[in-house]
Amino acid sequence: MNIFLTGSTGFLGGELLVDLAKRKEVNKIYCLVRALSEEHAILRLKHVFELHGDEFDPKRIIPVLGNLGEHDFAKMLIANKTLSDTTVIVHSAANTSFSKIYDKIVEQVNITGISELIKWSQTLTNLETFVYIGTATICGKDIVNRVVKEEESPNTKAHHVVKYTYTKMMGEIMLAKALPKEKILIVRPSIIMGDSRDWIPRSYVILWAIETVNLLRLVPVNGKSALDVIPIDFASKAITSLMFCKRNHSVYHITSGTASSTSSELITSAIAKEFPELPPFKFIDKEMMKEIKLWAKGKLPEGSKLYEYNTYLDYWKDRFTDTNEMRILLAALDPYLEFAELGQIFDNTKLLNDTGLSAPEPAHSYLARAAKYLKNIDVFAGAIDP
Ligand SMILES: NC(=O)c1ccc[n+]([C@@H]2O[C@H](COP(=O)([O-])OP(=O)(O)OC[C@H]3O[C@@H](n4cnc5c(N)ncnc54)[C@H](OP(=O)(O)O)[C@@H]3O)[C@@H](O)[C@H]2O)c1
Repeated sequence: MNIFLTGSTGFLGGELLVDLAKRKEVNKIYCLVRALSEEHAILRLKHVFELHGDEFDPKRIIPVLGNLGEHDFAKMLIANKTLSDTTVIVHSAANTSFSKIYDKIVEQVNITGISELIKWSQTLTNLETFVYIGTATICGKDIVNRVVKEEESPNTKAHHVVKYTYTKMMGEIMLAKALPKEKILIVRPSIIMGDSRDWIPRSYVILWAIETVNLLRLVPVNGKSALDVIPIDFASKAITSLMFCKRNHSVYHITSGTASSTSSELITSAIAKEFPELPPFKFIDKEMMKEIKLWAKGKLPEGSKLYEYNTYLDYWKDRFTDTNEMRILLAALDPYLEFAELGQIFDNTKLLNDTGLSAPEPAHSYLARAAKYLKNIDVFAGAIDP
């Protein structure tokens, strides 16, 4: 098997790269990398392996310089004859930003990107499978407080919290139109956060939002809403298992399912022990976000209900000497809280049946161990590029 992998320098793609490189069935892995030169690309790939001491084999791990958002990307891939022995494409790269200011680039990278990859894939005579890393959240925000099945998406009538999930839905639709079903494997992870192995996670993607909640302590979200969260090691193991097992379906949720679901309340209780000096977590109505934003602007009107939480307002005054920083954090956290309140759990029966895997460790259980890494997170860097 010769794989063309996109997103190998990212959170999930990096884990997939290391896991796939360990499989005997895999011969070469061509990795699409954004880099200034071949040397720079190799350094970036080496770094992926070095993080947890895995072996980098330059004969098998081959960088391909490129940028998904470019319109002549397919032409460049077609012209590169080395890539013509590719048998499997694993498309993990995406612009995952939730911020409205990045909507255009999100659309360009995620929609133009897959469109160009599809054009190229149609020229590959030996292509066996196009693995598309989608997201379970393409079901949109109309479904609340229940278990969601794979068949419910893609639904073009769904309303989306952010442009990102819309573009991921479009990617699935475009792929299904272009290639025969037997050549497609769509995997839809839920929220991938942290690592259930007791080591530093490959990336702080989404853990950034937990650390922001950890700083705020007074959180405008329903803490009891069910959350579907999985660790990166489970996500990668599930996807690679599907690539090599006998599959009965072409679309799978890569999720916690009901058995291993969690909630904001369970997660914050799990991490609280690491921060005994901070005020206790308190969940309040999501409508209070507007009041919190007004407070950060110094414009909270007299008589606001938020004054009932005086201890937290005093704590914020000490913690956020520059309230502009707090405003940046709140704006970036907004869509995360909207997702957290939907109460969506994604059925994982197909995944567990076909791979024989057990459900992942619940997030509140493994995040209790990972809480010690939260202090390493630069929340402002996360908020600027959420
Ligand atoms: N994390 C989650 O909770 C989650 C949940 C469900 C689904 N997913 C899906 O999983 C996949 C991976 O997400 P992730 O969390 O690993 O994201 P990530 O850490 O942000 O990684 C994104 C990867 O895409 C690459 N990329 C971005 N723009 C590109 C472009 N224009 N050209 C080429 N490469 C580009 C990045 O390269 P650079 O290193 O050069 O920036 C990076 O390797 C995505 O498809 C996402 O939709 C993620």
